[in-house]
Amino acid sequence: MNSLSVSVADSGIDDKALAALAPETDEALNKVLNGSGEGADFLGWVNLPSETIESDLAERIETVAARLRAECDTVVCIGIGGSYLGAKAVIEALKPTFAQTTPEILFAGQNIGEDYLAELSDYLRNRRFGIIVISKSGTTTEPAIAFRLLKAQLETQAGKQQAARLIVAVTDAKRGALRSLATDEGYDTFVIDDNVGGRFSVLSPVGLLPIAVAGFNIRAMLGGAADMQAACARPGSPAWVYAATRNLLYRSGKKIEILVNYCPKLHFFGEWWKQLYGESEGKDHKGIFPAAVDNTTDLHSMGQWIQDGERTIFETVISVESPDRTLVIPSDPDNLDGLNFIAGKRIDKVNKMAELGTRLAHIDGGVPNLTVTIDSLNEYTLGSLIYFFEMACGISGYLLGVNPFNQPGVEAYKRNMFALLAKPGYEAETAALRARLG
Ligand code: PA5
Repeated sequence: MNSLSVSVADSGIDDKALAALAPETDEALNKVLNGSGEGADFLGWVNLPSETIESDLAERIETVAARLRAECDTVVCIGIGGSYLGAKAVIEALKPTFAQTTPEILFAGQNIGEDYLAELSDYLRNRRFGIIVISKSGTTTEPAIAFRLLKAQLETQAGKQQAARLIVAVTDAKRGALRSLATDEGYDTFVIDDNVGGRFSVLSPVGLLPIAVAGFNIRAMLGGAADMQAACARPGSPAWVYAATRNLLYRSGKKIEILVNYCPKLHFFGEWWKQLYGESEGKDHKGIFPAAVDNTTDLHSMGQWIQDGERTIFETVISVESPDRTLVIPSDPDNLDGLNFIAGKRIDKVNKMAELGTRLAHIDGGVPNLTVTIDSLNEYTLGSLIYFFEMACGISGYLLGVNPFNQPGVEAYKRNMFALLAKPGYEAETAALRARLG
């Protein structure tokens, strides 16, 4: 049973406008479901939840995860973009805020920070650590650098043979440097299917393995996603409504969408969502710019802009109905802070009033509001939320008239970086850049 719901009642987009767009939205949905649009080679994510639940993959992931859980205090997940953001988002949403999971999960290969890597290396010295290295292409520079460093450190600390037991590679079935290395060294491996792009891969071993190693229930997550998969395979579904509404807002001049949470555990969910929508839609000089804020924290930094800045934005709030814990504001006999009027109330009541008050203020200020509600934060609801946003992203990209499943723009910085580093094969680009920079 899916508890996710979408409200567009405060978006300014009415049923008539949604009905007028319905033929286009239906066509976009059909492209996703039937593979009749551009990028159809990358639709493997569409049936991933139901297929994975029915296969023995979940069990294999749990078996490998159990070994890493038994033998490691720390597991470093190496990957960037779609190869790390989904796992990071889910683990951050589910783990206790001020404690680590057991084993703790750290991330590397998502930056080229020298201090970051040096400090990580210091931290791992003499620790029982393992590595999950995730790269579909197997050639991405950031994770390759991190893996080169940490593999050497693990082999020194644990010995080459034991290191090979503690390294798991998630990569292409046949191609790429990581696949060759994994075969040579005898690492356990999982496959990222050709037809699943990085940012749509959280419900594959890319996300499921780290999440299982952190101790979370991947079957419940797949269950939530599979239920949402079934719910989204028809016109009028929550994903259909969300995709159509945001597209109509874009056509009316709303160029920026802000994903808003009132639950600090969802910060990295916003990061995952930004990649999903940014890489899928930002092309051909089109696309809604995806931004994210954590409220009420960011009401004290970005709140002014959102309330009063250029009216090119709309917001999508992820509203979590019930927190896990109960905490009541105490009464104070002196009442110096004047808070006794809310004494005895739950913290979440105040948070909910901040959420409602902000929504009303934003509507009054010309910021259309969409709200996605889940009952609580758990594996099941996160699975459904992830699939909901993935499906909506596919529909939305086709409605926009772009191929939602490629990312040609990501290559531009890499070409320049390789040329500047004089990588063999880039001689002409190196010469051109050197001439340009003087
Ligand atoms: O969504 C994408 O395709 C990208 O963000 C990739 O996931 C990212 O660039 C990492 O690529 P790879 O997994 O090949 O190392």
